[in-house]
Amino acid sequence: MARRVQLAREVAKVKMVAKLPLYRGDKEKERLEEVGKWADTEGIDPLFARSLLYSVIGESCKQQMILKDSCNGEVTVHVDKESWHKRLRANLIELTKMWAPTYDKEYGKEFVSTRLHQAYEEEILGQMVESLPHHEAIVDLGCATGRVALQFGPRFRQRFGYDVSPDMIEVALRHAAERHNRNVYFEVHDIEMGIPLANDSVSLVVMNQGTGSDIQNISGLLAEIERVLKPEGQFFVSFYNAQALAYRTFLPWPLTLAAEINVNENYLEVHCKGKIIPVYAEAYSVDKVENLFTGRLLSVTQVSTHPTVGAILPNDVYTEQAVASFVERLDRSLALGDAYFGAYIVVCGVKNRSV
Ligand SMILES: C[S@@+](CC[C@H](N)C(=O)[O-])C[C@H]1O[C@@H](n2cnc3c(N)ncnc32)[C@H](O)[C@@H]1O
Repeated sequence: MARRVQLAREVAKVKMVAKLPLYRGDKEKERLEEVGKWADTEGIDPLFARSLLYSVIGESCKQQMILKDSCNGEVTVHVDKESWHKRLRANLIELTKMWAPTYDKEYGKEFVSTRLHQAYEEEILGQMVESLPHHEAIVDLGCATGRVALQFGPRFRQRFGYDVSPDMIEVALRHAAERHNRNVYFEVHDIEMGIPLANDSVSLVVMNQGTGSDIQNISGLLAEIERVLKPEGQFFVSFYNAQALAYRTFLPWPLTLAAEINVNENYLEVHCKGKIIPVYAEAYSVDKVENLFTGRLLSVTQVSTHPTVGAILPNDVYTEQAVASFVERLDRSLALGDAYFGAYIVVCGVKNRSV
């Protein structure tokens, strides 16, 4: 409720700046009708459900009017692009600081779809590693605690991981030292600035779990991936899918994803220890992603989206093991279909010798 009231105040500011009315009867009616229908299907009295929502909406309206009165309707919200991006970057550093100590054990733990997606990615990565013609170096862009490089690295002569977060890199370095791993290099580095490796030196580039969406200059980074990959080297890049089923409608329960993209406003809401922290991210369609790769030496061999149905179901569904396994299998088969409705877009491909 506190979060909702806080958001209602934020919405009021935006409405005042845009000179929109605070009260929107049509929207209110729509929401109340919707909640009545859900209540009915759940066997609850629709009037009870509507009255509950009515009080919540009433409180939000009251708070918005108090705010409007307090500033005579004159509010200026400074949301220029540069300071907004600065704020989102500061949030990313803050978020990764909070996550770093427990990221490996806890990220995705309470979000079933995120966990299943990690397993899905790992399966694809495992197959890619096996199929590579050479195992020179693996590079994880946005490596966090170094999971990918440490898990898949032993097949490679060298492993590199870059992350903008000092706290994540500290944990990655500790993990590497604990395992006495040699030829592992984790570095605090902003990959918007490029990849600090030589031309044609890498066998596999990984940028997983939607990290492709975190990058503002994605074309520049793809050019860098193209540059560092050896011919026949492969890449695995993942984005948030603007067309995912999960973002198509309002659901009366939380998504089972640890991070949800705002498809219109270029930010990602990441759950972190009971808080929701916005960080920069751009949502892509499959077409838009495929366009990013055209005209390059990088040719796309597989595009999949995942998870689809699993992401929109309520968490309770997963307490029944048989149902959970069914949903998992269903999403695996949907992933490779030609309806791209999964929450993440996973693009795999290879660097050719010529375009
Ligand atoms: C979803 S996590 C990736 C997790 C990791 N690869 C794994 O499998 O556990 C995204 C990571 O990308 C990092 N990141 C985001 N933008 C970045 C940038 N511009 N440069 C370097 N790292 C970045 C974040 O700090 C975060 O740790």
